Amino acid sequence: NTIAAIVPAAGVGSRMQHNTPKQYIQLAGKTILEHTLSKLSQLKSLSQIVVAVSQTDPYFDTLSPIDSRIIRANGGQERADSVLNSLLFLESNPPKWVLVHDAARPLVSINDIETLIAQCINDDEGGILASKVKDTIKRGHTYSEQTVPRDDLWQALTPQFFKYDELKNALHSALAQGVTITDEASAIEWANKPVKLIAGRSDNIKITTPEDLDLAGFLLNKQHN
Ligand code: C5P
Repeated sequence: NTIAAIVPAAGVGSRMQHNTPKQYIQLAGKTILEHTLSKLSQLKSLSQIVVAVSQTDPYFDTLSPIDSRIIRANGGQERADSVLNSLLFLESNPPKWVLVHDAARPLVSINDIETLIAQCINDDEGGILASKVKDTIKRGHTYSEQTVPRDDLWQALTPQFFKYDELKNALHSALAQGVTITDEASAIEWANKPVKLIAGRSDNIKITTPEDLDLAGFLLNKQHN
């Protein structure tokens, strides 16, 4: 019982302009969430896979069974609330580590996840998959006001891998103080704890807009061949 996975899947996916929440859109033969869960189920080291879905979600229970370690938990208002609820769900028998992975990232590489877990456990520090920013980055609104030096900029991906207690405490206090938390690492940074950056494949995209769907469909078909 050392590592549990948490899959936040309680978003409505408003940027997708689709009538079903994005994690239930069909792509390359199954829903996005099923692709993601099939990936995670390849990891033998996970004791449980907690999926945070909305309390009124009618879709989750209709998915075909993928793995006996998968358990449904209630999501929350924001992604961070969904993750905190899932951590609390595990409270009676907590794992040492948690691996948090977005439902909307079905393309993640198992190799990258294994590297993340191994490097973090080895150094006894939490960390995340990330990829170096490739584009030139501008700051501004209607006009560009500044070009941001990109040599130390990374895109935060998931999974994000932290100690159960550290993440629960950091998320709990950050949310209580109204800090904006868009990933687990932001809560850990706020608590002044280290976050290792582990370079991962940049095709581990988060499916967010309709353009992402075409790209993800293409990449999923390629992975299956
Ligand atoms: O909306 P966004 O793409 O940032 O969501 C990232 C992940 O967090 C998605 O898998 C989404 O389902 C999940 N989420 C959640 N609870 C929320 C909002 C988003 O579990 N309240």
